[in-house]
Amino acid sequence: MYLTREQEKILAGEYGWAYAKALEIIVKVGGALGAEKLIPITHAHVSGISYTNIGDPGLEFIRDFYKGGVKANVYTTINPGCIDLLGSSRIISDEPRDKQLEINQYLERMGFKPTYTCIPYIHRRPVVDEHLAWGESSAVIFANSVFGARTNREGGPLALAAGLTGYTYYYGLHLLENRVAEVKIVLEDIEPDYYGGLGLWIGDNIRETPIIMNLKPSIPHIKLLLAAAAASGGHGLIVLNNLTPPKTYSVDDSAEKIHVDKKDIMEYTGSLSDIQGEVIGYIGCPHLDPFEFEELFNLIKTREKLKKDYKLLVSIPRIYADLYRDEILFLKKRGVDVVVGTCPIVSILRDKPDYIVTNSGKAAFYLKRLHGIDTVVAPLSNIIEILFGDQ
Ligand code: F3S
Repeated sequence: MYLTREQEKILAGEYGWAYAKALEIIVKVGGALGAEKLIPITHAHVSGISYTNIGDPGLEFIRDFYKGGVKANVYTTINPGCIDLLGSSRIISDEPRDKQLEINQYLERMGFKPTYTCIPYIHRRPVVDEHLAWGESSAVIFANSVFGARTNREGGPLALAAGLTGYTYYYGLHLLENRVAEVKIVLEDIEPDYYGGLGLWIGDNIRETPIIMNLKPSIPHIKLLLAAAAASGGHGLIVLNNLTPPKTYSVDDSAEKIHVDKKDIMEYTGSLSDIQGEVIGYIGCPHLDPFEFEELFNLIKTREKLKKDYKLLVSIPRIYADLYRDEILFLKKRGVDVVVGTCPIVSILRDKPDYIVTNSGKAAFYLKRLHGIDTVVAPLSNIIEILFGDQ
C-alpha cells in the first residue's frame, strides 16, 4: 500500500506507539482488502462503546489507547452506551454503570465528542462526496444514501483508529465505481408507515445495492427503512430515487426490476392483534431527531396515562436532555420512560416483557435475536393508540 511520508512517520512510532498502533490497524485492514492508499477523513463515528457489547476486552482496548496519550485528530462522535445518562430508567438496567462510565471517561478524555447517539449527523451534517469513517450501520447507510457522503461500515476499533489518525483506507463505498445500483425495487402503493417492514424485506431479499423507485419523501420513515435494511441485510448504500444526490452513484443499465407490495412485507412486521401480556412499546431506534420527538410528544400530550401492563420506552440523543427538559418531564409524568444516550439493544433490560411493539424494523430484528423477545413492527400512531387508548 502506498503511504505518504507523514503516514510512514506515524507508523514508525515517531508520534508515539498508540498513534502507530491505530494506523497499523487501518493499514492492515485496508491492505487485506486490497486498498492502494489511505485517504484523510473529516468525521469519524465510533460504534461499539457499550460495555454490554464489548465487555472487558473492549474496555481494555480503549483504556490502552487512552494510556498511550493519544487525542482525536478529526471530529469524532460516539455511539450510545449501555446506561441511561439521566439515570432514571425503570426499563433499562443501570448496570454495569461503573464500567460504562469508565469507557465514557477514556473516550471523552481522548477528545471524542460526548454525543452518545447513533444519529451523529444531528451534530455535524455530512456533505456530498465527503469521506467519513463511521461505525453504526444505520448512520453509515444514512450518510451514503441521503447525504451522498462516502463511508464504509467500519467496526468500532477501526472507527476509533480513524478518529485518532484522521485516515481511513480507500476502498469500497469511498470509490464511485462501487456505488452502483444493480436492482430496481419498484414500490406498489406502500405507505411510509410500513417502511420499517420494507427495510427488513429488502435486507432479507436483496443482496445487491438497490435503487428504490416510488418512494414517498418522508425522511423519518426513510431513516427507519435504511436502518432496518442495514441491520437485516448488511447494506451500506441504498439509492433513493429523486433523493440520493446525483453523481454520488450510478445505475447499471441491466438492473432487474422487482415489484414489491404491502402483502410482501407483512410477514416482516407481525400483527398488533398478536400482542398480549406485558408489553413495552419502543420508539427511538435509531434515536429520535427533533422532528420525530415533537411528533411523538404531540401524539402523547393529549392523552392520559399508559394502560395497565403497557410501558413505553423512548430513546433520544444526549443533546436533547437539556433541549427538551420540560417535554421529557411531562412525558415521564405520563409514565413514559425516556432514556438518553442508550437504547434497549445495547443495554440490559430490567425485566423481559412478553412483547415489544416498535416502529423500528432494526429494533425488532435485534430484540428478537439478542434478547429473544417477540416483536411487532407497527406505525407510530397505532402504537400510541394501543398503549394509551383513544384520545
Ligand atoms: Fe441506535 Fe440502538 Fe438502534 S444504537 S440504531 S437505537 S440499536
